Order: sequence, then structure tokens, then C-alpha cells
Amino acid sequence: MFGKKFCRPKIVSVGAGNVGATFAQYCAEMELGDILLLDIVEGLPQGKALDLLQAGVIRGYSVSIQGSNDFSEMKDADIIVISAGFPRKPGMSRLDLLEKNGKIIANICNYIKQYAPNAIVIVITNPLDIMVQLAFHLLNHPPSKIMGMAGCLDSARMCSFIAEELHISQKQVHAMVLGSHGDLMVPLPDYTTVGGIPVKKLISPDRLEQIIDRTRKGGAEVVSLLKTGSAFYAPAASSARMVQAILHDEKALFPCAVYTQGEYGLSGVFVGLPCILGIHGVEKIVEWPLSEESQSALMKSVEEVKQGIQSLKEFGFAIT
Ligand code: LAC
Repeated sequence: MFGKKFCRPKIVSVGAGNVGATFAQYCAEMELGDILLLDIVEGLPQGKALDLLQAGVIRGYSVSIQGSNDFSEMKDADIIVISAGFPRKPGMSRLDLLEKNGKIIANICNYIKQYAPNAIVIVITNPLDIMVQLAFHLLNHPPSKIMGMAGCLDSARMCSFIAEELHISQKQVHAMVLGSHGDLMVPLPDYTTVGGIPVKKLISPDRLEQIIDRTRKGGAEVVSLLKTGSAFYAPAASSARMVQAILHDEKALFPCAVYTQGEYGLSGVFVGLPCILGIHGVEKIVEWPLSEESQSALMKSVEEVKQGIQSLKEFGFAIT
């Protein structure tokens, strides 16, 4: 009655569990676009969408938030964020989820190919580096339009631990974690600063090593506390931040799981590297000089990803 139809970006969250719904909440709070929650569980995405929409009256946001079990409704999505899949339970590694979550990703990719072939895709589902590689092969997307969320989360965890150690605002800590989203991730103390000061000048090598180790096990620490699932606030916040950087064409620097084509001596494999995110997705992979130790840790972490891809092949998945 008052105006024309809204013309906002369409953000689709595939998965309305803890990560997907919290991601939708953060996107709504930032009014990044209209949001569609998709899930196979009847009533779940609809119920969460309705609740989230009504919360907006109090929280002061106004975007369309809908839920559906009909995946054809992803049509014309600008960004699709996939968190659907099984989470880890205590004692499980992310790799334990390989086959089950691979099947879920393959199903979702069929819908994306059919209904939203031009959408930018962000994968959160674990084991992340392998799931994003699978999606890339199934979708045949340009590398700039498909990425995995992990480095942003792992870096946030490292920032938080450093801030706690130094009794300083989390906002002033900048950390960078590359590599796979697993125990072999590669935190980079050389590129970590606190208010512009290199962290190595502020924290002793031993203590820093403990923080690095806690960062590597950051996801497992939350799993072991929750007992019934894995972290969701920080993973959801990290993905919403990536979506914001893309939709606002920020040209912001984040570590993301990206398809390598020669960068850091790597090719044809997804792994966490520093990238510039803008309206076209991954607009550039930034190459920094790495210490010998970090470069060799990066290679080890890539080996882990390649082994995961090999296992996926052995399970019969079409992936190269
Ligand atoms: C974590 C999961 C999302 O690191 O991989 O918490």
C-alpha cells in the first residue's frame, strides 16, 4: 500500500540449527538484506524465522525473514550460507563427519545449481575445507564465488585469548590464522598485533605458544563444554561478518578457505588464506612472506585437507 516491493539483497541460510539461526539473527541485526532460512525439519525454519522477525520490533531491525522447507525458494539468492549438517560431539574430530555431511552438501548443491546458480556460496559445514572443495566441484562455481568460513572464526578465537591474557579490549587485537580448520591450522604470531604492537613484544614465547595451542583446539574446547553440539555464536558471527564485507563491498581482509591457483605454492585445493572480500566475493588472495616454519605448517595442513579429499573419493564422491 505504501511503496514498491523492497529491493534488498537475498541472503539464504541453508540450515536453521544453532549456527544457521544465529547467523540469520546477526544478519537481521545488521539489516544486511532479506533472509530466508531453509531446513528439512518441518516447522523449524518457519518457527525460528517468525520469532526472529517479531524480535526485530524490539531490537529495531526491519527486514523480511522467512523460513521454508522448500529449497526451490532459494531462487535468485545473492548469498547462500551453508551450515546444514551434523555437528561434532565430544571426542569426535571434524573429519569424523566426512561422509554424512558430504551427502548433505551434495544434495544442497543440486538445489543451488538448479535455483541459484549465480549466488555467492559460503560453506560452514565441517570438515569445512573438504566440504567447500566438494561444493566447488559439484557447483562448478568460479573460485571467487565460493569460500569456506573458518579463518575468521579461528582468528577471532586467538584475538579473544590474547585480549584475555593482556587485559585489553578484544577490539584492539588483530590476529591471522591460516591453513585448514583443524588441529593443523596455522596461527601467525608474526602478523598478530595489539593496538598496532606486534604481539611477540607483549607476550613471552612460552605463553604465546600456549595461546596458539588453545586456538588450534578452540572448537573442541567449546564442544567438550557443551557436550551436545559445537560452537555457534562465534561461527555465526564470523559468517555474518563475511557476508557484510561482501554485500557492502568493503574490500576487507579476512582469512577464508579459498581455492588456490598458485598462491603460496599451492594449487587446486581449498585452504585458509588471507583474502580481500568485496561485492564479487573473493576479489584477491593476498600473498605475504611467511616464515619457513609457517610455510611448512601451511603445507602440512594442506596435506591434511588432501587426505580428507582422498577419503571422500573412497566414499564414492565425485571430487577431484
Ligand atoms: C568450530 C566448528 C564450527 O570450530 O568447526 O567451532
